[in-house]
Amino acid sequence: MLILGLNMFHGDASAALIQDGEVVFAIAEERLNRVKHYGGVPTLSIQACLDAVGADIADIDHVAVGRDKDANLAKKVQYALSNPAKLLNFIQIRKRREAMNDLKSLLGRAMDRDPASMRFQEHNVEHHIAHIASAFYCSGFEEAAGFSYDGSGDFVSAMFARCVGTELEPLERVFLPHSLGSFYTMLCGFLGYRKYGDEGKVMGLAAYGDNTYSEQVRDIVSPAGSTFKLNMDYFTPLGSNSGMQIGADGTVKIQRHYSDRMIEVFGEPRKPNSEISTRDRNIAFAMQQRFEEIFFHLINQLHKQVPSGNLAMAGGCALNSVANGRIFTETPFARTWIQPAAGDEGLAVGAALYAYHSVLKQPRTHEMKNAYLGPEFSEARIRTAVEAVGLEYSRFDREPLLEGVADQIAAGKVVGWFQGRMEWGPRALGNRSILAHPGLPDMKDTLNARIKHREWFRPFAPSTLVEHQSEYFEHDHPSPFMLHVYKIRPDKRAKLCAVNHVDDTGRLQTVSRDENPLYYDLIKAFQRRTDLPIVLNTSFNENEPIVCTPEEAIDCFRRTKMDVLAIGPYLVLKEENQSRVEEPVAV
Ligand SMILES: [Fe+2]
Repeated sequence: MLILGLNMFHGDASAALIQDGEVVFAIAEERLNRVKHYGGVPTLSIQACLDAVGADIADIDHVAVGRDKDANLAKKVQYALSNPAKLLNFIQIRKRREAMNDLKSLLGRAMDRDPASMRFQEHNVEHHIAHIASAFYCSGFEEAAGFSYDGSGDFVSAMFARCVGTELEPLERVFLPHSLGSFYTMLCGFLGYRKYGDEGKVMGLAAYGDNTYSEQVRDIVSPAGSTFKLNMDYFTPLGSNSGMQIGADGTVKIQRHYSDRMIEVFGEPRKPNSEISTRDRNIAFAMQQRFEEIFFHLINQLHKQVPSGNLAMAGGCALNSVANGRIFTETPFARTWIQPAAGDEGLAVGAALYAYHSVLKQPRTHEMKNAYLGPEFSEARIRTAVEAVGLEYSRFDREPLLEGVADQIAAGKVVGWFQGRMEWGPRALGNRSILAHPGLPDMKDTLNARIKHREWFRPFAPSTLVEHQSEYFEHDHPSPFMLHVYKIRPDKRAKLCAVNHVDDTGRLQTVSRDENPLYYDLIKAFQRRTDLPIVLNTSFNENEPIVCTPEEAIDCFRRTKMDVLAIGPYLVLKEENQSRVEEPVAV
């Protein structure tokens, strides 16, 4: 049975393919069309899913979309009728997505196929149910408390659910305009970060602030019963409820969320790209602090309703790895499983798995043990791409390649590492990564100046051999998808200075050999040289979607000041370093 899952007409459009209950392929459209957070129809992703198993759209049995326009309709209408601007907005949102009402015609146009050739059955899965399904049905948990939170989806911003076997029972919803995602987005906009998806950047800034503004920020959002409410004085009347504005080119724009009340209390908003003041840092601190307070209130309340040790979580806010790292100390949950594509691209997987288990009542066999669900490329294709631009290269077998790359990282070189299948979700997890030595004092500045060109306050991540995690970090719950921030142990902070954030934390990825043997063995080779079972890992890109193809990796390598490219079995050194080419020596 083939089920195609989709997220479309929404930021981070994506497609996923479920074959007999296994997630066999999943990808966000931005990786293929190179438009960051693309929000149109994921045509290229659908084709990539089909190509992965040699199927045709006519072979698809079910299509599941992570949106249900009829979900929570009474609440939507009630809200829309409260004033004319809201009513007009409600009508406009429905009109923008009208094409989804006839899915076969829509896919027929997108794929240039006759809709009559398609025989699939269609399923519309409510946004947050799809988020929770993307976590629980991938988790391997037999039972769990399910939690989803984000800006908004199908008029809801958060959901509690009881998850058992193939049953996913929603227990509670937080309806718009109340939204913890909107709270974060509003303050990020005020701080000059106004692009869709900027929230993750500002999280890193919070650690540089103090609690000067904590009381003022607490006035913006408060616990209310088992959930929370926003103080709408601080928000524009429509704010996040105006939906995403998807441009003709598929780019996603967000409206200004903050009201003039914000300016009265906090002063003028920061202009984008201007210097970051002490006030800005302190607002960022208070924003993250309040976000965590409300988050822990929510999941503690959830635990009262579903007293399980297991938490299955997704939704864009579940990418807040700082909050995630504190779950074990602030709540009774002992284990988390967070969908690596916790944002809206993950809806494709969640909708499809919900259809398979909860609608079609098929048993659970799948467990998402790694996030390598994207395309891979043959050695011949890689060699052609390297030769096409005239790069000199050497080819190595597996072990010499690992030893050679480990030599380079240990010597302080910056290595582009392109191997195997691309990661699913926003994090690079050792297949489309830039790697460097985590213990060199100037490495963070080097990466920022030469390659990444990103904000000075954003930390780089450590990839850690899982069995060494607790020697270096103060918590041992694994984080295979780089979704938890933990304190680094005091005696290890200097050794990890390039990945140690200002608050002595690191957003780690734990690497086990069964998840990614090549990456694991590379870190092992690095450990033999340096005694460090950890490398610095940042995504393989330069202010663009993470590279997908060999050509994109080579292009990024050539236009930045990366020292080395390890692409499949090929090692390429920058021309200025070519005199230093040496045969790797096995250690
Ligand atoms: Fe969402």
